[in-house]
Amino acid sequence: MKYDVKDIKLANKGLEKINWANEQMPVLTEIRKRFEKEKPLKDVRIAACLHVTSETANLMRTLKAGGALVYLCASNPLSTQDDTAAAIVKHVGVATFAIRGENRKVYYNHIESVLSMKPHITLDDGADLVSTLHSQHTEWLDTIFGGMEETTTGVIRLRSMEKSNALKYPIVAVNDAETKYLFDNRYGTGQSTIDGIIRATNVLLAGKVFVVAGYGWCGRGLAMRARGLGANVIVTEVNPIRAIEAAMDGFSIKPMSEAVKIGDIFCTLTGNKHVLRVEHFTQMKNGAILCNSGHFNVEIDLEGLDKISKKGRMGIRSNIDEFMLKNGKTIFVLAQGRLVNLACAEGHPPSVMDMSFATQSLMAEYVAKNRGKMPVKVIDVPMEIENWIADLKLKTMGLKIDTMTPEQVKYVNSWQEGT
Ligand code: ADE
Repeated sequence: MKYDVKDIKLANKGLEKINWANEQMPVLTEIRKRFEKEKPLKDVRIAACLHVTSETANLMRTLKAGGALVYLCASNPLSTQDDTAAAIVKHVGVATFAIRGENRKVYYNHIESVLSMKPHITLDDGADLVSTLHSQHTEWLDTIFGGMEETTTGVIRLRSMEKSNALKYPIVAVNDAETKYLFDNRYGTGQSTIDGIIRATNVLLAGKVFVVAGYGWCGRGLAMRARGLGANVIVTEVNPIRAIEAAMDGFSIKPMSEAVKIGDIFCTLTGNKHVLRVEHFTQMKNGAILCNSGHFNVEIDLEGLDKISKKGRMGIRSNIDEFMLKNGKTIFVLAQGRLVNLACAEGHPPSVMDMSFATQSLMAEYVAKNRGKMPVKVIDVPMEIENWIADLKLKTMGLKIDTMTPEQVKYVNSWQEGT
């Protein structure tokens, strides 16, 4: 089998982590058991570009159990867990191309290696695989049935491709399923971002001024968790509705130009570029800590920061770079502005990835089954699939809910009865 990982000898260590994660992924496990029997993905070639983590390894196991031939590469140069990557090759049997810290050239070479399998289905996180396929390898578009996209940024890119008629095959916006964004984006990002900041710095959050840039589902989760640890949270936004929501959730709202003067820790999760830039860096307090939990490393203008620094010391501690500004102040940047939750910690916990990856597995089955019948668009996850996942997740959490009485069903489906 072809592969490119840091060290295949790390495989046994990786397997321990994969098995541990699997314990907390009961919905995915249930799907895997059915896939083993029914083989709904028999002979289907799947090219996956995802964060190479122990949760992803369990998704790989599931797709393989369904009979698919899977190739995997990293969706971010800093999120790969090298031991997990080795285990995916050795113990899961999936060709994996991912090395933590790979440069841009290797990152794209790995995407090409995965695409060279001429996939039927693409499984992407951020749309780098899909955009490479559409821009550099149109010769491999013929065999494609469809694809799935995992993240907000990827879905935004795909919608823009659809709008400009560049999209050549149907792609399911898994991110937009409630079984995904309500849990993974909010509780997953909330916890794992805090985890990454703490593992990298060991700072006390209690009493700190913590600035959250962006109040989408990820920002909501982070603001909530930072407050839970005693930080004074400021939210910055460009969307007035989200700003009102954050205000009514009890957070301070300020423009970044004001927040920078009092913030101790800044985290960007907007999906946009240069949210923190030179005009902000120069106003920050000495010792400010900057990080990003949005998909791409564009949210902090690191080039601009470099230009106004007289000296920089990279890696003063693992995952921390120090910038000494010409104005005499020092600023710290975590994980080179890349996803702090995956680069400095382990990403979202398995129990939320359980629902995200259950959705991915069932949508792989859906795309294989409905090949040729789906519109060439960004498409939604069918509600029956979301409900099936939610029912099973609830059951595995040991929770029970009510069902409507026949009278209630009739009432909610009628309009005649009023005051
Ligand atoms: N995205 C965020 N957290 C993740 C994880 N643990 N595995 C895969 N993708 C992720």
